[in-house]
Amino acid sequence: MIVETIFSTLDEEGRPNFAPMGLLFNDDSILIRPYRKTQTCRNLFSTGHGVANLADDVLAYVQCGLYGIVLPHFPAATIPGSVFDGTCSWMEMSVIEEKGTAERAEFRCQVLHRGERKEFTGFCRAHYAVIEAAILATRLDLTDRKIMAEKLIHYGEIARKTGSDAEKQAFQLVHDYIRKRGKE
Ligand SMILES: Cc1cc2nc3c(=O)[nH]c(=O)nc-3n(C[C@H](O)[C@H](O)[C@H](O)COP(=O)(O)O)c2cc1C
Repeated sequence: MIVETIFSTLDEEGRPNFAPMGLLFNDDSILIRPYRKTQTCRNLFSTGHGVANLADDVLAYVQCGLYGIVLPHFPAATIPGSVFDGTCSWMEMSVIEEKGTAERAEFRCQVLHRGERKEFTGFCRAHYAVIEAAILATRLDLTDRKIMAEKLIHYGEIARKTGSDAEKQAFQLVHDYIRKRGKE
C-alpha cells in the first residue's frame, strides 16, 4: 500500500523542505522513493532523517509540491526535522538503508517517534481529485496532452461539486500551474 504524505526534511544548513511523497508501508519498515533530482532525495542523503506528515490539507500538498512553499512548522521531537503545523499525525524517521536506480533512490526507514495533533476526519472526493491532479502536474512531461486535458476537466468537476473553498483553491492552483507550463 502506498500512502500519500507531506514529507519534510532539512538540508545541511538546517533549512526545512516539504514535498508530497508516497510511502510504502512494510511490516517492519517504511520505504520512501524520491527521484534523485528532488531536494527531498538530496536531504535524505545528507542528513538521513525525515518526517512523514499524514495530513488532510490538500491545499498544503499543492503549495509545497508545485510552488515550493515552506509550510508552517514546529521542531520534531526526536530528530533534526520539522513537523507541518496543519498535520493530523506524523512519523519521525531515520534512514537505515539506501538502494534504488539511477533515476530514483529508495530509502528504507525506521520510525523513531509518532505524534498526533488532530483527528483525521476523512477524505471527500475533492481531496482525491486535487491529489490526483497534483500528481498529474508533477508528471507533465510523461503525460499525453489530450489525456491530461480530459483528466483535468474530470477532477475539476469533482473538486467544484464536492469540495470546500480550500479544495477549490487548491484545484485552481494546480490548474494555473499546468496552464503556465503550456500543457493545457
Ligand atoms: C501525491 C503526490 C505524491 C508524490 N510522490 C512522489 C514520490 O513518491 N517520489 C517523488 O520523487 N516524487 C513524488 N511526487 C512529486 C514531488 O512531490 C515533486 O516532484 C516535488 O516538487 C519534489 O519536491 P522537492 O524537490 O522539494 O523534494 C509526488 C507528488 C504528489 C502530488
